[in-house]
Amino acid sequence: MNDYNQKNILVVVSGSVAAYKSAILVRELIKFGAHVRVAMTSSAQEFITAKTLSVLSQNDVLTDLFAQQDATVLHIEWAQWADQIFVVPATANLIGKIANGIADDAVTATIMASDADKIIAPAMNDVMLNNPAVQRNIKGLEQDGWLIISPEIGFLAEGYEAKGRLPEPIEILSQTAIRLRARKAKLLNKKVIITAGGTKESIDPVRYITNRSSGKMGFALAQAAVEAGAKVTLISTQKAPQIYGVDVVYVSTAAEMYQQVQSLFVTADIFISAAAVSDYRPANEASQKIKKEGSEGLNLSLVQNVDILSEIGHSKTSNQFVVGFAAETNNLMAYAQKKLKTKQADMLIANDVSRSDVGFNSDDNAITILVPDQKPETTMLLPKIEIARLIMNRIGQTFA
Ligand code: CTP
Repeated sequence: MNDYNQKNILVVVSGSVAAYKSAILVRELIKFGAHVRVAMTSSAQEFITAKTLSVLSQNDVLTDLFAQQDATVLHIEWAQWADQIFVVPATANLIGKIANGIADDAVTATIMASDADKIIAPAMNDVMLNNPAVQRNIKGLEQDGWLIISPEIGFLAEGYEAKGRLPEPIEILSQTAIRLRARKAKLLNKKVIITAGGTKESIDPVRYITNRSSGKMGFALAQAAVEAGAKVTLISTQKAPQIYGVDVVYVSTAAEMYQQVQSLFVTADIFISAAAVSDYRPANEASQKIKKEGSEGLNLSLVQNVDILSEIGHSKTSNQFVVGFAAETNNLMAYAQKKLKTKQADMLIANDVSRSDVGFNSDDNAITILVPDQKPETTMLLPKIEIARLIMNRIGQTFA
């Protein structure tokens, strides 16, 4: 997903040696389809020219507090135009001014007059960075709602390795997109438990009962939850792809899955039951391989498994949120509404698994989101990761 397409983005550059990276930031934003304008402090112009940034941003560069165009005061017009303001790189001086409400040049006045999302990336000498006044100012900006991009440890202009280096522009953009999304979805630091895949119920040491679930929807949900800033544990029966920031616990049977969900859910905020849990298991697991000699047919006696979603739905506290799925081949809405109610879920994702273009093994899905007392919301056919992002967004809106 591209979070910058068609966005109005103001890049503010201040006088750090890392100012050259602002040119790369502007170029990346243009590549993402953003409308970009640049404002510079006078010391920034000692490091990089306004001409370079004007050519790259395809716009004039604001440097003068008193600049006007056809009687419009530019810093006010630019402040209102911006959806996001990136201060990259930010010097100790500029951080100090913004944190203390000083607006004595084009840059600080524009920032003060704007209610855009604001992102700041400090870059300076390590001793300066650790100065208590600078740390106090950075903390103050964070409390004022600024998104702080922490400097990295790396090779500084001073010729040694320490904390203070500006992260690469593409890293700044991806971190910003993820953190702003999380802020909007209100899922930052929420603990989310997700189950994925079909369970395997043993018949004997070599055979088991399972189903067609691939686990893909659960994996996509884990990825989307991490993107939204959540802390995620995935309980899976299938080999999961490596997703940065996701803890994976592997299980096989419904009983094992239930045991893990139960113990992890105690401290969790959200449970998403995306697994295809087998409703039945063999009444007795044979300790030796069952031989075919001497019998024409074989009767397997099955007993019901615990319904994990229903157990968790009935035992959750008022601060916990439970999401289930309903895989149906017919009467989708009626069955799904019934499951929402009887399992006491807070949200149910209805899935028509009779369609060949959605469901179990497909990379795409189309769903209907059911929430008690709200109008059902049906999506079109989308890649599972997009569906997962929609679901996480909706969870954020409903739960928070
Ligand atoms: N589920 C569960 N434990 C079970 C069976 C299902 O936690 N033993 C959860 C699934 O993870 C899903 C929801 O319940 O979130 C609905 O699963 P589904 O297979 O659609 O329905 P069932 O409850 O099994 O009912 P039926 O098979 O009769 O449609």
